[in-house]
Amino acid sequence: MYLTIQEAINKGNGEVSIRGWVHRERGNNNLRFIVLRDVSNIIQCVIKKEDIGDDKFDKISKAQIETSIEIHGEIKEDKRAPTGFEITVSDFNIIGQSNEFPIQKDQSTEFLLDNRHLWLRSRRMSSILKIRSTVFGAIHEYFRNNGFYEFQSPIFSANQCEGGSTVFKVDYFGKPIYLAQTWQLYAEAGIFSLEKIYCISPSFRAEKSKTSRHLTEYWHAEMEGAWFSFDDIIKHGEQLLKFIVKKVVGNNAEELKILERDVNKLKPIMEKPFIRMTYNDALNILKEKCEMDVEWGKDLRTIEEEKLTKLYDVPLMITHYPKIVKAFYMKESPENSETVLGVDFLAPEGYGEIIGGSERESNPDEIDRKLREQGEDPSSYGWYLDLRKYGSVPHGGFGLGVERVISWICGLDNIKDAIPFPRTMLRYTP
Ligand code: 4AD
Repeated sequence: MYLTIQEAINKGNGEVSIRGWVHRERGNNNLRFIVLRDVSNIIQCVIKKEDIGDDKFDKISKAQIETSIEIHGEIKEDKRAPTGFEITVSDFNIIGQSNEFPIQKDQSTEFLLDNRHLWLRSRRMSSILKIRSTVFGAIHEYFRNNGFYEFQSPIFSANQCEGGSTVFKVDYFGKPIYLAQTWQLYAEAGIFSLEKIYCISPSFRAEKSKTSRHLTEYWHAEMEGAWFSFDDIIKHGEQLLKFIVKKVVGNNAEELKILERDVNKLKPIMEKPFIRMTYNDALNILKEKCEMDVEWGKDLRTIEEEKLTKLYDVPLMITHYPKIVKAFYMKESPENSETVLGVDFLAPEGYGEIIGGSERESNPDEIDRKLREQGEDPSSYGWYLDLRKYGSVPHGGFGLGVERVISWICGLDNIKDAIPFPRTMLRYTP
C-alpha cells in the first residue's frame, strides 16, 4: 500500500512505499539523493549502489527532475534532511521519464506563465492552489450554514450590468450578446423563488487594464437576499471574509509558511471589527493623511485605494459613493439622492477592492431613467423591470472577486498567480 509522503513521515520508522515526482537530485557514482514530492510534502530518499545493484543504480542516476517514481524503503528521522526524515531506498520503479524539464531556478515571470501547465507543480503554485481550494470551500460553507441556496445563471447574456465598456461580445448565431459580467440580474429574479441565494461562477470583463489586480475571466462569488437591508448586506460581507480567513489560517498554516506570508497580518481580520466609512470620509482621510485631493464625484482609483488601505490593518467598508460612478441598479441613499447605498470592501496592505455590493433600486421608473442615461435601451431589460412590478421587496447583495481575496490572503504580487490558468488582456494561453 502506498502512503503519501506526509503519512510516511507521520509513521516515522519502518518500511514504506511512496510515489511521486523527482523534485531535486544530486549525488555521485555510488550514492544518490533524490528529493521526492507529492501533493502532501517532500522527502529525501537515499539510494546506494551497494543496496540496489549496478543496473538499477544506473537507471536512477539518469532520472531527471519531474520523473515519476514509486519508491520502497525504510524511513527514519534525520535532522539534516529537508523535512527531517529520510528514506533509505531498497527498490524503486520509474513510471514516467522526464527529459530536461524546462523550468529551472530564477526564471522570468513571463516564462513561468508561458509554462504554466508545468509551473503548476511548483511548491509555490501548489500551495496557492490548496489555499484556493480552502477559499472555495469556505464560501460554500458560509452561505450554506446561513441558509442560502446555490443558484445558477447563464453565462451567455443579452444584457450588460456593470457598464457597456467592459463586456465581451459574442456572436450568438448572428446576434450580438455578451459573456456575463455578473450573476446579479438573474439573481434578482431568483430571490423571489429562493429568497437567499449565492453562486460561485466565472465572470468576464473586457477591461483594458494591465494592473496586478485585473483578470478578464475571474471567479465571482455573489449573494443576493430578499428583504435584505443595506446593513444586512454589509454584515454578510464582513462575516464571510472573516470566515474565509479563519479557514485558511486554520487549514493552510504550512502553505502560508511556504509562501512566506506573515500570518500576523491576517490576525486582525479575524479578531477586530472592520472599519466602516462613507466615501466623503474617505476623501477627507485621503486629503489629511495621504495628501491626495480627490474631486467629489470621481471614483477612487487603484492608487488612492492603495494609500487608504495601507493606513489600516483590517478591510475598509466604504459606503455612499456618488451615484454617477456606480451601476444603474444601486438604490439612491434616502439622505442624499446624489449618493447610493453601495459598498466597496477594500482589503488592507494596498490590495484594494475585493467586494462590491449594494441595496437595489426598487423603483422601475428610476431604473428606466438611469438605463437611458447610460445609453441603454430599457426595452431590452423588460424582464428585469418586471421584477419590480410583481411583489417587489427591498433586496440586495454583493460580489466578491475570489482571486482578489486569494491574492490578498496569500500576499501575492499579482492576481495571475491566484488562478491556475490566468486570462488577461495579453494572455489567453496555455
Ligand atoms: O464591483 P463589481 O463590478 O460588482 C458586481 O459585479 C456586482 N454585480 C456584484 C453584486 O452585487 N452581485 O464586481 C464585484 C467584485 C469586485 O469587488 C472585485 O473583487 C471583483 O468582483 N472584480 C474583479 N476581479 C478580478 N478581475 C477583474 N477584472 C474584476 N472586476 C471585478
